[in-house]
Amino acid sequence: MAHKGFTHLLSASMALFLWLMVPAWAQTDTDILNFALQLECLEGEFYNYAAGNGGLPASDRGGGPAPIGGRAAKLGGQTLALAKEIALNEKRHVEFLRSALGSQAVPCPLVNLTAFGDAFNTAVAPNTFNPPFSPFNDDLSFLLATFLFEDIGVSAYQGAAPLLSSKANLAAAAGNFATESYQAGAVRFILFNQQNNPYQIANGNAQAVYKISDGLAALRAKLGGGSNQGVTSPDGSPQVVPVDGNSQTIPRTTAQIIAIGTGGSPTKKGLFFPNGLNGSIK
Ligand SMILES: *[C@@H]1O[C@H](CO)[C@@H](O)[C@H](O)[C@H]1NC(C)=O
Ligand SMILES: *[C@@H]1O[C@H](CO)[C@@H](O)[C@H](O)[C@H]1NC(C)=O
Repeated sequence: MAHKGFTHLLSASMALFLWLMVPAWAQTDTDILNFALQLECLEGEFYNYAAGNGGLPASDRGGGPAPIGGRAAKLGGQTLALAKEIALNEKRHVEFLRSALGSQAVPCPLVNLTAFGDAFNTAVAPNTFNPPFSPFNDDLSFLLATFLFEDIGVSAYQGAAPLLSSKANLAAAAGNFATESYQAGAVRFILFNQQNNPYQIANGNAQAVYKISDGLAALRAKLGGGSNQGVTSPDGSPQVVPVDGNSQTIPRTTAQIIAIGTGGSPTKKGLFFPNGLNGSIK
């Protein structure tokens, strides 16, 4: 009897030992791609509303709910063209990842596009936007919202790259990564050119564009670590291409990305993802 009890104890401690041996970061390619898919759901919904497509088609949502707060943005010529191009890219990213994941793909999570207002208020604190910030109001508002999202996409894919085991998946992630980087670069350069223009955040209260974009970058860095990807560097010089001392783009872990997407919520539910994420990384 004593011997049997000892065996039980031994197997229990072995199980605990093995469980402890499995590091928290031991995520499968499926986990990582499903995480990326849900970021693409968020981007895809935003751009496909802004560009006038009424959001992603239901089939792209994979059974997930329709988002909150999306509408067509009031955009002019070039910005509308850019919005349409990015919208198509993000829609294809969703479809590409869904097809790579097959039956393992998770539904899109609930996405709240009204939450831009909260993120932007934090970025200009102690000031506030009045009326609330909406990315759908005009070209510049759309571009600032795009700025907020694109650098997150770049850092998320760079952070995910070393976690992927299959070369095919790594190549797919690299393709998405570079696409996000092109998009981020395009928007950053437009904002850089307008950096000293005033943006009315409230009646009689304007702020320079660079102050708002740098505030958004500071918010990302505060919630999700990584260095500040502002349009101006700390010494005030332009920073169109935000990189580290080795001129590498800045990686973020999945936890850091979730912290940004949910506004640092301890429950990991909030801001752009009111119900959190689906899949195993959440
Ligand atoms: C996860 O997917 C289901 C659909 O199966 C969806 O209803 C739910 O809202 C999703 N979860 C989140 C966090 O939104
Ligand atoms: C969406 O965001 C807005 C603005 O913060 C908030 O008022 C609303 O409650 C959010 N919706 C959900 C379902 O979380």
